[in-house]
Amino acid sequence: MLYRTLGRTGLRVSLLGVGTGGPSNFGQRSGVPEADIHRLVRRALDVGVNIFDTAAGYRESEAILGRALQGVPRDRYYVATKFTPELDGEIATPEDVVASVERSLARLQTDSVEVLQFHGVRPQRYRATMERLLPAALKLREQGKCRWLGITEQYGEDGSHETLRLALADDHFATAMVGYNMLNQSADDLVYPQCLAQNVGVFIMFAVRRVLASQDRLEETIADLKRRGLIKRDAVPDRKPLDWLVHDEVDSLASAAYKFTALHPAVSSVLSGTANLAHFESNLRALENPTLPEADLTRLRAVFGHITEPIGN
Ligand SMILES: NC(=O)c1ccc[n+]([C@@H]2O[C@H](COP(=O)([O-])OP(=O)(O)OC[C@H]3O[C@@H](n4cnc5c(N)ncnc54)[C@H](OP(=O)(O)O)[C@@H]3O)[C@@H](O)[C@H]2O)c1
Repeated sequence: MLYRTLGRTGLRVSLLGVGTGGPSNFGQRSGVPEADIHRLVRRALDVGVNIFDTAAGYRESEAILGRALQGVPRDRYYVATKFTPELDGEIATPEDVVASVERSLARLQTDSVEVLQFHGVRPQRYRATMERLLPAALKLREQGKCRWLGITEQYGEDGSHETLRLALADDHFATAMVGYNMLNQSADDLVYPQCLAQNVGVFIMFAVRRVLASQDRLEETIADLKRRGLIKRDAVPDRKPLDWLVHDEVDSLASAAYKFTALHPAVSSVLSGTANLAHFESNLRALENPTLPEADLTRLRAVFGHITEPIGN
């Protein structure tokens, strides 16, 4: 396992992190038995994964993770969780945040998490959210309920990372969670240089998501980008548009996708939201050697480098 420093936290986190949200939601969406999820967590620990990302809003994920980690020495892993800053379209109250964090800690069976994140902050709500909830989050940190604060974006509607740019300008956070993949590389210019300059740790989400896990979904997305003039008609084939990435060391599209997201030096940990052990093993292999051939990278950048659409779903 490769390890990278999570920005100013100084924590050495595994390049492959386990995500418990996303389309799989720790197997809850496809009905994976909890015992299988525990096996995946144990396997992850065995191969050196030491960072788990979860959230109050991920159904039972925190509780499942807490049970899966029962008996594991607390110094063998780090947990990043989140609270939801918007409830029913309104900004939550400071009391909501405190209650959410207390519930998260109880479900995770721990007194403290390493990173407490504002979950999916929308750009238009960023200022009001900080004004109302940052003091409560700072107080929780003072009380030792978390060691650092982080923020995650609402990537599905913020493909150009407006929230993270605002947050970086304020410099309140030790970590940022970024939507980033081969089809939206915009963080390269819009987010990562600032993260490096300010020593902010980066978690990756949306590396594969749905679009790079399904050939049908990918073909539809590429057709849409061509129709809207966002990429040239002959830039990539209509059928199996990215299969040219699969050769030699790269044994699948998902493998190319995870490798791609690990290339930038600002990236600390790539979260993989799989509940499937075979997929986990493949993703582990992909991130053991996070490189892609230069010619393929050049082509990916030429075709998709300018895209700021929130592509992933
Ligand atoms: N705003 C936010 O704060 C936010 C939003 C989204 C995500 N997150 C966090 O980031 C984590 C990662 O995001 P994500 O789960 O969307 O990212 P992801 O790992 O790119 O996508 C997960 C999807 O990819 C599939 N997949 C994974 N490995 C595969 C493989 N080798 N072959 C084929 N399919 C594969 C999974 O299906 P299988 O289960 O079938 O493998 C799952 O549907 C989440 O789990 C969550 O912790 C945070």
